[in-house]
Amino acid sequence: MAKTIVTGIKPTGIAHIGNYFGAIKPAIELSNKEDYNCFYFIADYHALTTVKNKQELKENSFKIACIWLACGLDPNKVTLYRQSDVPQVCELSWILSCITAKGFMNRAHAYKNIVEKNKEIGSEEDDGVNMGLFNYPILMASDIVLLNSNYVPVGKDQLQHIEIARDMVKIFNKTFGNSLIMPSAITEKEQAIILGTDGQKMSKSYGNIIPIICESNQLQKLISKIVTDSSLPNQPKNTNCTIFNLYKLFANEQEIMSFETEFKKGISWAEAKKILFEKMDSFLEPIRQKYLFYFNNPQIVEEILLKGAQKVRPIAEETITRVKKAVGLK
Ligand code: ADP
Ligand code: TRP
Repeated sequence: MAKTIVTGIKPTGIAHIGNYFGAIKPAIELSNKEDYNCFYFIADYHALTTVKNKQELKENSFKIACIWLACGLDPNKVTLYRQSDVPQVCELSWILSCITAKGFMNRAHAYKNIVEKNKEIGSEEDDGVNMGLFNYPILMASDIVLLNSNYVPVGKDQLQHIEIARDMVKIFNKTFGNSLIMPSAITEKEQAIILGTDGQKMSKSYGNIIPIICESNQLQKLISKIVTDSSLPNQPKNTNCTIFNLYKLFANEQEIMSFETEFKKGISWAEAKKILFEKMDSFLEPIRQKYLFYFNNPQIVEEILLKGAQKVRPIAEETITRVKKAVGLK
């Protein structure tokens, strides 16, 4: 039987090159393989843990849907939907939270990091933590389990969340009898962390992103800001740098080899940035065009999302009924 794949992206900001290579591209590639049933969603309930502005949440959700479609998601192959259109996920989340030890959630990375930061600056441990954020991994486990997911493609930073989901399935099945499918993570073996303009991990939280969708001149400006070492024109340059690593993502073998030769010969940073800009700009141009199409046709996007939700709800209903029977609510 075809395996089920589920993954989600939070609509919390502007999607960037790190999201593209770390999450979007691998998920779309998987959907092009024949033997998978793919369900990709916009994790808007998850975004609500941090976004507190209704316009912003709506816009971000719509833009993330446009990004998925612009990057090549084929709605005939992938069921694309909005998490909040399938409210059964919240019902499941409550039931799973009743078999989850609080101490277990204390150890989840996202929560632990906030607590540690608060301690460092002498604030209350739980400052800025809402219950949605604390329960985040339980809702994520519910997303996965609700659709009987076998595989979950994620970036390495999400592996702990998948481990948590697996532990919940184990506990549930042990307590109530085998009713839930055990999911496994799929991560790209070779997937490097993509670096931002300042040389640390590209992330919305660090203000160092290169968006997937931006005007050519903005792209050029961002590339010109990439931090380089102080080697002068004509001096050989180290290829272990942000410019070269970004170039590798967009170029073919041949192009990478000749860029490497230029580095050895001592290309100037200005020239290297120009070559990187041209490569990225031509790669991103068709994505921009497709994005504009969907952005200007919101009714098409909405229709795709509603159709997606219609496909997902009966599966969700089946799981919830099975789970309620297993625990004695039905
Ligand atoms: P951000 O750090 O910008 O908030 P998210 O946490 O929303 O990004 O990540 C969404 C997805 O994109 C995750 O699957 C994550 O693994 C992937 N991702 C994010 N940043 C990077 C990066 N710099 N390199 C590779 N993958 C990334
Ligand atoms: N937590 C994921 C992220 O921050 C998003 C997400 C929510 C997700 N639910 C999921 C990913 C279910 C995979 C499966 O990127």
